[in-house]
Amino acid sequence: MAFFGKLALRTPRFRSISAVPVRGMAYNVYEDTTASPDAKFTGTDKEIAESIFMQNAENDFLKPGSAFIAACGSLAREYPELKSLSEDIFIGRAHQFFDENEDGLIDRDEFVNGVQELLQPKTKAGEVLSSRLKQGIVDEFSNDFSHVKKIAIMGAGVAGLQTASLLKKKGFEVTIFEKSDNVGGVWKENYADFGLQVPKELYEFPEYPYPAEKDWELFPPGPQVQEYIEMYAKEMSLIESIKFNTAVQGLEPKHHGWEITYSSPDGNSGTEDFDFLVISSGMYSWPPHIPKARGWEQFQGEILHSCTFNQKEQAAGKKVVVVGGGKSAIDNVVAASKGGAESATLVYREAHWPVPRYLVNLVPFKWGTYSRFGHAMLPTHYDHTSFGWWMHSVCAPLKWGWWRIVETMFTVQFGLKGDLKPKIPLEIDVFGGGQILTYEFRDLLAAGKVKAVKGSLDKMKENSVTLTDGTELEADQVIYGTGFGKSYKFFDSVVEKKLEKSKDGLYLYRNVIPPGMGNTAFVGTEVSTFNNILTHGMQALWLSKVISGDVQLPSTGSMRKQIEKEQAWKRTWMPATSARASLWQLHMLKYHDTLCKDMNVPHRRKGMNFLAELFAPYQASDYRDLFK
Ligand SMILES: Cc1cc2nc3c(=O)[nH]c(=O)nc-3n(C[C@H](O)[C@H](O)[C@H](O)COP(=O)(O)OP(=O)(O)OC[C@H]3O[C@@H](n4cnc5c(N)ncnc54)[C@H](O)[C@@H]3O)c2cc1C
Ligand SMILES: NC(=O)c1ccc[n+]([C@@H]2O[C@H](COP(=O)([O-])OP(=O)(O)OC[C@H]3O[C@@H](n4cnc5c(N)ncnc54)[C@H](OP(=O)(O)O)[C@@H]3O)[C@@H](O)[C@H]2O)c1
Repeated sequence: MAFFGKLALRTPRFRSISAVPVRGMAYNVYEDTTASPDAKFTGTDKEIAESIFMQNAENDFLKPGSAFIAACGSLAREYPELKSLSEDIFIGRAHQFFDENEDGLIDRDEFVNGVQELLQPKTKAGEVLSSRLKQGIVDEFSNDFSHVKKIAIMGAGVAGLQTASLLKKKGFEVTIFEKSDNVGGVWKENYADFGLQVPKELYEFPEYPYPAEKDWELFPPGPQVQEYIEMYAKEMSLIESIKFNTAVQGLEPKHHGWEITYSSPDGNSGTEDFDFLVISSGMYSWPPHIPKARGWEQFQGEILHSCTFNQKEQAAGKKVVVVGGGKSAIDNVVAASKGGAESATLVYREAHWPVPRYLVNLVPFKWGTYSRFGHAMLPTHYDHTSFGWWMHSVCAPLKWGWWRIVETMFTVQFGLKGDLKPKIPLEIDVFGGGQILTYEFRDLLAAGKVKAVKGSLDKMKENSVTLTDGTELEADQVIYGTGFGKSYKFFDSVVEKKLEKSKDGLYLYRNVIPPGMGNTAFVGTEVSTFNNILTHGMQALWLSKVISGDVQLPSTGSMRKQIEKEQAWKRTWMPATSARASLWQLHMLKYHDTLCKDMNVPHRRKGMNFLAELFAPYQASDYRDLFK
């Protein structure tokens, strides 16, 4: 039965192939291309297939392995619509498809007919493989953006909004796809008592300062930041460009662009073509990272992630265990205690350095960290002249001493002792995440209202969790403050592979451009600094100049070289996290400098004031005139 099914499916492949058009008139997915620029053969498709077969066959057969791979490579070069045949993932499928009699060898007829069937499918199997091959074809990166008129942006957080604003100013037609019902991203809703960890001048749209008519708190809580973002979106007339409640579900590459498949709960689904795609779907929103412990399904209590612990009252009367040692986990254990938890215990693998809002309770922390002097104290950036490197080497003991003084200051300010005193040097630790804290956690610990236990969850029982050292903690609520993962599953798996993701993240040119993929950019999604809103603004400005032709990018090879340099540098000293590729943290000043240099605008932005240039913190207002 199966045999006849297969025969029926394959029969149409044995048709006459003499009527196949000659090269130049051949069927092509692209309207404006006829043959691949790498094409070597001439003649009809049949003649081309025969030539490729003859070139690689041995004893009248194409054997699996190198001969078949080489033949597929030639087809990929010859026909733009078969370009994906150069991918391993498709070579196996193609072999199965060509091998009509399933003897493991491809004879001449099988090969020629198979090629014909892929070019002009007449069978279901041919249609499926042919369409799958086309989905895997992504335009290579090109410096020519002259075709770009219509741009899609995925996400209406602070990154997507700024990108839209700057691209609209350049005259592009912009559509933002936003899966929720409002702008703001992480600021729409988040964990109990969330807010800015920095003062508001360090989290400000360079294009739009906080309006003076309202009293903003110095460290605005989440809802105030959200209000500010909504004001920006209205002021920049962005609302009409947003398709709310519309999630991007799939992206299919087209010649010179993307076809976007979107859906919404009200059934408003569809597809639309765009010339360029900007991904601004965020670093810290989806999917939540929840490392399940053994026996998880037996646990009778409630399991939450920081992003679903939205009201501190959710913890009332509960024995709460919070997992994680980052900013979210610490804020969550504090909120749980304030929300009336019977007990609130933080379980952390590794203590991290808290940074106080005021150094020695006096000087705002930005003076120590956001200035060029603060930047010079960091682990040396790779992009220095020989003199710069020499200076950094000579000053290494001084830098080391400086950080030990700062650590002592923070130890005293936060009363750090025992397991809560981090082992990792502060100047390295801030590149793993970084957390600016008030004294609430310190004070609740001292008052015995929260506990902190160093360890990792091993298993869960009905009403408790057990750590790897055997310590058992009663629990009826576990909150995972364990951060977020990253998913680019809206790309086809073959396309996703072209992003060339590493274990430590996605390395992009200037954290924006994937050199292996054309018509695509990432703003905000693959970068993290201590002033993200400004960094996203700078990326958006840079991208708007790239697409409009004001800034020329180097060749793909040069971009890759630059990425390799950055990668090697980061891997020598930065903590090995899954997001290392995106992290700039306190090196943000140098990152912003680089973008300024690319845009041919001064990167030193404090005017003639040398002292200000060295010691004054850099913030959005320093870059404002670039956005006018
Ligand atoms: C609690 C918290 C506090 C923070 N505090 C600070 C701070 O003090 N300073 C600082 O610099 N940074 C802070 N950050 C980091 C923060 O993530 C960034 O500052 C910034 O807000 C991120 O903006 P974004 O636009 O890149 O991403 P997001 O805000 O995550 O927005 C992404 C948007 O994309 C949408 N989206 C995702 N997928 C799709 C899809 N498939 N289709 C359609 N839409 C989609 C989402 O709905 C969302 O609206 C904080 C983060 C958190 C979680
Ligand atoms: N402004 C604000 O108030 C604010 C609030 C929240 C977040 N943020 C920002 O948002 C970003 C995300 O912060 P976040 O705290 O949500 O996440 P995060 O910085 O990624 O921290 C995740 C924590 O979870 C721990 N963890 C991860 N996997 C674990 C596992 N399998 N078992 C035990 N522990 C595990 C990590 O431990 P290790 O340290 O041992 O790896 C780390 O301490 C950060 O950049 C942060 O600055 C800002």
